[in-house]
Amino acid sequence: MTAMDVFLDRLDPDMCVVTAAADGERAGCLVGFSSQCSLRPVRYVVWISDVNRTYRVARSADVLAVHLLARDQHATAEIFGGRTGDSVDKFRRVRWREAYGGAVVLEDAEAWFVGRVVERAAGGDHVGFVLEPVEWGGREEVAGPLLRLADARTIRPGHPVD
Ligand SMILES: Cc1cc2nc3c(=O)[nH]c(=O)nc-3n(C[C@H](O)[C@H](O)[C@H](O)COP(=O)(O)O)c2cc1C
Repeated sequence: MTAMDVFLDRLDPDMCVVTAAADGERAGCLVGFSSQCSLRPVRYVVWISDVNRTYRVARSADVLAVHLLARDQHATAEIFGGRTGDSVDKFRRVRWREAYGGAVVLEDAEAWFVGRVVERAAGGDHVGFVLEPVEWGGREEVAGPLLRLADARTIRPGHPVD
């Protein structure tokens, strides 16, 4: 274990599912690297790995949708984090609808927003998509806890495929 692991292993962010649609294609993956990055205007950044199919679709999308899952939605996390859209159609396994700008919204998410891509930032092996919210929704009443990294650690990422 390195000293940096001592820091990184303490992090337990809320997970989200980021979806993208462009040129007749849909994609989406589980994301642990994300945060609000501006107060006024409100902006939120999601970091997508350049090996993911979601990145290849997202780079030509004008909007992305970001969803929070409940802790008991592990099966949805598994679909989006443990499989790649290069080999399975993830959207056959979940309820979704089209939203602002052709964005794909997962209907069973706890909370979601659609954001316009206002900036792309090189982070290293992940690219930051800075989003300005244009549409949002979710459950009125807060039910249980959200799905966090600690709940998703057992999922083996679908990409890169080995
Ligand atoms: C716990 C966990 C956290 C992840 N965090 C990210 C992330 O922050 N950004 C990212 O691009 N991929 C992340 N992934 C990987 C993708 O969700 C995964 O490789 C997915 O299968 C890619 O699907 P795609 O090829 O259809 O886009 C994470 C996976 C897991 C299991």
